[in-house]
Amino acid sequence: MATFIPPSERREQSPHLPFGDRREAPFYGTDILSVSQFKRADLEYIFGVAKEMRAMVERVGTFDLLKGKILANLFYEPSTRTSSSFFSAMERLGGSVIPINEVTYSSVAKGESLPDTIRTLECYADVIVLRHPEVGSAELAAKYARKPVINAGDGIGEHPTQALLDLFTIEEELNQVDGLTVTMLGDLKYGRTVHSLARLLSLFVVRLNYVSPEILSMPPDLIEELSSSGVSQKEFNTLDPVIAETDVLYVTRVQKERFENQNEYEQVKGAYVISQEMLQEAKDEMIVMHPLPRVGEISMEIDSDPRAAYFRQMEYGLYVRMALLAMVLGKA
Ligand code: NCD
Repeated sequence: MATFIPPSERREQSPHLPFGDRREAPFYGTDILSVSQFKRADLEYIFGVAKEMRAMVERVGTFDLLKGKILANLFYEPSTRTSSSFFSAMERLGGSVIPINEVTYSSVAKGESLPDTIRTLECYADVIVLRHPEVGSAELAAKYARKPVINAGDGIGEHPTQALLDLFTIEEELNQVDGLTVTMLGDLKYGRTVHSLARLLSLFVVRLNYVSPEILSMPPDLIEELSSSGVSQKEFNTLDPVIAETDVLYVTRVQKERFENQNEYEQVKGAYVISQEMLQEAKDEMIVMHPLPRVGEISMEIDSDPRAAYFRQMEYGLYVRMALLAMVLGKA
């Protein structure tokens, strides 16, 4: 069995440090696997870089910060936003992309293991973005990779880059995070975005409300983890009792693909549909977020409400992912 050498040490040994990379740059060569690796100061730094990225995109569209760098975008699960925003982020930074969206057309379909696929791609790429149905897959990939691995969703585990863009959205839209009441609604059991976001929000002084059907409630170990860091959390089955106090309503899709029993899915799939009427008691300056795709949880009549932030949220995602790519490649 191979001895595990921490990624930082392995990269230190690498004689091939490309010209222009800055070892002292924060996050250089770092895997992005879980939100638990971030402190508040890191978030400030990342969001500062994301704002610079936005300014550059607005000014010039595409520029050459990552010219010559290659991203392997490896997706074992369906994706529209995450894969295309990483793709766009890399291209806007002047780099290029090996897109593997359909693993059935790659050697994965021949039975290749994740470590072997990763060891292959890192021969051709400088950074790997991975989405995989199994919890812990990104960590496994990082264990074998010499190049930085970015977790783009590992089953029901984590989705750290989504949580970062969610938090950036909250800061940009509401100017602060401390003091907010965030209500997460929908599939809190299988939804990896809420798992990561709740953890990330525990770095701030927030109140969290969880609204879900009984069988889709927030995992008890996560609730316990956040309680021990002092986060106030309350659980509900309906939105009514908390809509008036909510600053951020974070809606999620019931994760059909994670159910072992499809009858159970049928019972809860239409549990909540956010309508204009349900927002009547909501604050004027609150926001409605959703990682998307939505499959009916938010009525389209909300789309034109200025409080609907879910389309703006996608754009914030581009800047955050540009920042992360630049940082792990030592250019920010
Ligand atoms: C989410 C995901 O894949 O976890 N989508 C995304 O990355 N924007 C949410 C979902 O699929 O429901």
